[in-house]
Amino acid sequence: MNITVIGLGYLGTTHAVAMAQLGHDVIGIEPNAARVADLEAGRLPFYEPGLQDALTAAIGSARLSFATAHGESSKTAAVHFLCVGTPQSSDSNKADTSYLYSAVEALIPVLSTDAVIAGKSTVPVGTAAELAEHASKLAGHPVHLAWNPEFLREGTALQDSLAPDRIVLGVTDEHSENVLREFYAPITATGTPLLTTDLPTAELVKVAANSFLATKISFINAVAEVAEAAGADAVRLAEAIGLDERIGSKFLRNGVGYGGGCLPKDVRAFIARAEDLGVSSAADFLHDVEAINARRRERVVTLAQQTLGGVSGKRILILGAAFKPDTDDLRESAALDIAKQLDDLGAKVVVHDPMALPALVRQHPQWAGDQDVFAAASGAELVILATEWRQYRELDPFELGTKVGAKNLIDGRNLLDIARWQSAGWHVDALGRNIKNG
Ligand SMILES: NC(=O)c1ccc[n+]([C@@H]2O[C@H](COP(=O)([O-])OP(=O)(O)OC[C@H]3O[C@@H](n4cnc5c(N)ncnc54)[C@H](O)[C@@H]3O)[C@@H](O)[C@H]2O)c1
Repeated sequence: MNITVIGLGYLGTTHAVAMAQLGHDVIGIEPNAARVADLEAGRLPFYEPGLQDALTAAIGSARLSFATAHGESSKTAAVHFLCVGTPQSSDSNKADTSYLYSAVEALIPVLSTDAVIAGKSTVPVGTAAELAEHASKLAGHPVHLAWNPEFLREGTALQDSLAPDRIVLGVTDEHSENVLREFYAPITATGTPLLTTDLPTAELVKVAANSFLATKISFINAVAEVAEAAGADAVRLAEAIGLDERIGSKFLRNGVGYGGGCLPKDVRAFIARAEDLGVSSAADFLHDVEAINARRRERVVTLAQQTLGGVSGKRILILGAAFKPDTDDLRESAALDIAKQLDDLGAKVVVHDPMALPALVRQHPQWAGDQDVFAAASGAELVILATEWRQYRELDPFELGTKVGAKNLIDGRNLLDIARWQSAGWHVDALGRNIKNG
């Protein structure tokens, strides 16, 4: 099928590449000319495992091309996927949906009467119906607009696009449903469930899923606070409750909390939308979810101060900049939040990351450490693990111990083998645990 993918950020780029890999003919539309030039040259503008090779292959197969604006070829597209950003507004918790309106307005001149507009961006419930009305008015006829929320996870984005847990289609007309069912046939043929809903349900599915995940993380982080006060071990506790299949062990590891370009803004947008709809008390608990998340980062800063007797002037190495491993996405990263708090207290902060250092150099050059973790550690009096990269799990505490100024570690993700680090002479703290140092 001929399609366009509008907005080539993390979501749009992955969707465009994955759908070309499935055999569709894809034009990616993105106003950022530098990004389009990169993509045309086969350069992925961010790090995502497996996606660089898939991009190269898709360009090679001539199924994927890019443009800064719609041209004649957009007129032949059967589906236009909206993948533009919906960031938090600058002056409130609400999602900024203005990019969607701009994208739809630019689309109208090339929109054929049969083409389906399929929104994939995460939006406040009610956006799709308003967007459909706006587009229909501009087009002078009813447009086919569907909502098809995206559940990909950065780090496993390509696999999640090709083999998702489920496909959700919010539709109001049979034509849109038929076109999208045909479009996704290569995926549903392998057994992926496809659920059709109305527009508001499809919009809400995504925000509800992310709010649930954030709540699960904050739940175990709240338990970790109690465990710290009571002398219990929240890691062992999570193992025990996670074995109950009604609870499950995923997203149940206590640590410095959630971040990224989705969970924080989606939780806030959910709160804001519930207020608009007159049901603010339904989302009241999410204020606590956010507050718990913020407190865990503050806890690391408190531990750092206790360990060093104040952090001013002290060199502190933070392991990890990305909000999670296998991405170079720095949006709302817990690691950088901790870096900022320590910096504000006068610490000399150095941040290391296996993949996100180029992005860090662009955004916070003052913190960027050496690409070599042992060089970055030179003279540090405290090491804080903030992102659970596999490379850090495999880090040799004996070798690292020869580089630092003092062997103090805070494991903010409960990733490391504490006994091993202690046997290498490190003083170790970890969230939610009561670790005895000899
Ligand atoms: N990143 C993820 O893992 C993920 C997963 C699921 C859903 N989402 C949702 O997908 C949406 C996009 O997220 P993202 O992380 O890719 O954001 P992003 O900021 O990385 O990318 C958005 C892109 O849209 C482009 N854009 C803006 N206005 C445009 C217009 N009028 N026409 C064409 N392009 C335009 C921007 O230049 C940018 O490249 C958000 O709603 C997000 O919540 C993201």
